[in-house]
Amino acid sequence: MATALVVLAAGKGTRMKSDRPKVLHEVAGAPMLVHALRAGAAISPARTIVVTGHGAEAVATAASAWDPQVELAHQAEQLGTGHAVDQCRAALAEFDGDVIVLYGDTPFIRPETLAAMQAARATHDIVVLGFEAADPGRYGRLRMDGQSLEAIVEFKDASDREKAITLCNSGVIAADAATLFSLLEAVGNDNASGEYYLTDVVGLARARGLSATVVTCDEAETLGVDSPAALVRANAVYQDRARAELIAAGVTLLAPETVHLSFDTAIGPDSLLEPNLVFGPGVTIENGATIRAFSHLEGCHVARGAVIGPYARLRPGAELSEDTRIGNFVEIKNAQIHAGAKVNHLTYIGDAELGEGTNVGAGTVTCNYDGVFKHRTTIGRNVFVGSDTMLVAPVTLGDDSMTASGTVVTEDVPDGALALGRSRQVNKAGLARRMFEKLKAMKARRDKDSQ
Ligand code: UD1
Repeated sequence: MATALVVLAAGKGTRMKSDRPKVLHEVAGAPMLVHALRAGAAISPARTIVVTGHGAEAVATAASAWDPQVELAHQAEQLGTGHAVDQCRAALAEFDGDVIVLYGDTPFIRPETLAAMQAARATHDIVVLGFEAADPGRYGRLRMDGQSLEAIVEFKDASDREKAITLCNSGVIAADAATLFSLLEAVGNDNASGEYYLTDVVGLARARGLSATVVTCDEAETLGVDSPAALVRANAVYQDRARAELIAAGVTLLAPETVHLSFDTAIGPDSLLEPNLVFGPGVTIENGATIRAFSHLEGCHVARGAVIGPYARLRPGAELSEDTRIGNFVEIKNAQIHAGAKVNHLTYIGDAELGEGTNVGAGTVTCNYDGVFKHRTTIGRNVFVGSDTMLVAPVTLGDDSMTASGTVVTEDVPDGALALGRSRQVNKAGLARRMFEKLKAMKARRDKDSQ
């Protein structure tokens, strides 16, 4: 059965105290909307429609950046969740299949939960995702009759008896498209909020003799974000969950609470993460790598057996092959470091390629930027780059070449050659001793004068 995903993202989120549309606030480096779309994508929907409203243009841009196939429906006025879903009526008029409605500000729904809802559709016309709330607050209440869902009652419209119910509505709902849109036609706004409630479709369905049930999930999964404090909590929940998943997958985290992950961080088993690490978006680490303390990585790939840090910075486009070593205070950007190469101390490698087995000495800089253009540095295999070498790009060091310490390389170095580009040293016999004596005498005179 084909499924169309409808993601509601029109709300303003006044309590976020921000000009940014609510669904674009980020959890672990990605907008909440993208988290919802990712969860939805995992059940391979035939169609995905995002309902935009407040900040429509920015929301549409973020949705399309994530997946250009995403369709958009616009809700000019926010008249309620039922009205929001109804904006997809024309787009789904010919759609033969199920609709699953998600919220763009509920980033933690698991794909397994959506799959369980799809499965429950085999036996029920409407499936609602519910959860047992520790504090049911203002959530809609699920009125059950055994396994059967009778109605969803919004808090504002609930009787005291209904308010005592702790089984609550997450907002996620699944139904056949034709049934859903037919029920929505009958939804009115004669209620405490004056809104068209999506939740009313359940009572209407039952009145038509259709069946409805509830699939439940953990409350943490339905966590929505509607305030800055809730966003902080959501990030903390995300980090805890992502770290636990890594640990369960065989990654060693010496101090999990000090490791900050992004929504797409991928780390293979048998890798070791030391304390105090930041993984920005776009990092993949293969099995058996070691990331040592206080390192910052984003947009990079680290192959098996590589050792990164401590205090390393890997920026977008850093490609580290097997058994490479990147040491303290080293920054790598847009550079391919081939197998076994070492860059261990105080170095910047940007817009470059380092061949297998090459060793880069301390304090080396690829001078890649002339103030206007970026230029590449190409370093061959088994090269020895002496400490404090300045590589003025564009420049190439051939295989098995060397640079002497302190060299400023402005011309290509052929295979096997030594580049020596510094002024010749002169030793002046006895001059240091005489200088010391002179300076010490000067200091003694000054000390005496100041007494
Ligand atoms: C809704 C449910 C409630 C449930 C709760 C869970 C209804 C009537 N109530 O309540 O049962 O317990 O979610 O969090 O559905 N939106 C639009 N257009 C609108 C209104 C809302 O796109 O006109 C979007 C919002 O951006 C948000 C989502 O729908 O992503 C939910 O809206 P919100 O106002 O948070 O729902 P609640 O009234 O809290």
